[in-house]
Amino acid sequence: MNPTFPPIGERSSLIDDYIAGRELELTRASNGESERPRVMRDLYRVFDNREMTLAEVTWHQHRLHEWRRWSAVDMIDAIDVARLSHTDRVYLWNAGRAELTTKPGADRLSRLSDKECRLWQEQDPALAAVMQACGTWSRYWNEEEAYHETSFNRLAALVGMPQVDDETFIEFRKIFPDDDMLRTLTLLAVSEIVAATNYAGCARGASHPALKALFQQVSADEIQHMQYFASFARALIDSGKYHAKDALAVAFLFVREGGELYGSRRENVEDRGTHVNWWDTLDDGGEVDRPQTIEKQRGMIFTLVRQLTDIEVTSVDQLEEAWMDQVGC
Ligand SMILES: [Fe+2]
Ligand SMILES: [Fe+2]
Repeated sequence: MNPTFPPIGERSSLIDDYIAGRELELTRASNGESERPRVMRDLYRVFDNREMTLAEVTWHQHRLHEWRRWSAVDMIDAIDVARLSHTDRVYLWNAGRAELTTKPGADRLSRLSDKECRLWQEQDPALAAVMQACGTWSRYWNEEEAYHETSFNRLAALVGMPQVDDETFIEFRKIFPDDDMLRTLTLLAVSEIVAATNYAGCARGASHPALKALFQQVSADEIQHMQYFASFARALIDSGKYHAKDALAVAFLFVREGGELYGSRRENVEDRGTHVNWWDTLDDGGEVDRPQTIEKQRGMIFTLVRQLTDIEVTSVDQLEEAWMDQVGC
């Protein structure tokens, strides 16, 4: 496969587009087909009104997945590893480790979705279908994340960075514990926002055009994942069985002063008991700029809040107020 990606300049506005609430263009610009598959919205209504079956929704998911495929082998081959800078190497090493924890996240989602599907089957068949659609999509998510993990770890090895030893690999594969499904989906959507902005930052800082293109591609994948998580989370709230306050609580946990978004400015990697977030710190000897952009992340999280709850917030204080209002409901 020969990937033909649009120039970086045309691809770098996904984050700003999302904050501004514009329709996201996540497809390959070279594909001339008129009907572009997009992340489906309004899923609860679609199932509740019996507008589509699970098999039809699955085909839609599959089309979008296939439409957006790219070759890790070709993208790595296009990079002259001898020319990569110290910053490039640090970003690759950290990104490869960060991506190792995605597979257990996807494995957990797959299991949790099926469990929830069976719990709701009698009481709310449309909600059960949403859960099953989520579990089915998790296989595409898992596969797409495999491209990120393997590309970054392969490149880190090619530039001579220390290899991930088997003990670390197995440690990072620990399955995450189960939580409430709406909290889980909101947390995953926010994690994708953090990843997307981190990789956009890596792309800006990368010295080699083909490496910039790889970081841009991965960032666009993460935004697509965020859109899926947002769609499933919204469907849960639309069902009336899950409460918006739980989504607001997770969003607030990240954006509050000193919250999760500030991870990479902390002194040490934070041990959360079940998994390690390598973006909490960069192992760089203090020489490399952090790729994070907190304001962009906050802006995207405020958009996410609107997408999930129809509640408009533009500041941390407003988000806290909205959350407290919902808790009082
Ligand atoms: Fe990823
Ligand atoms: Fe992702």
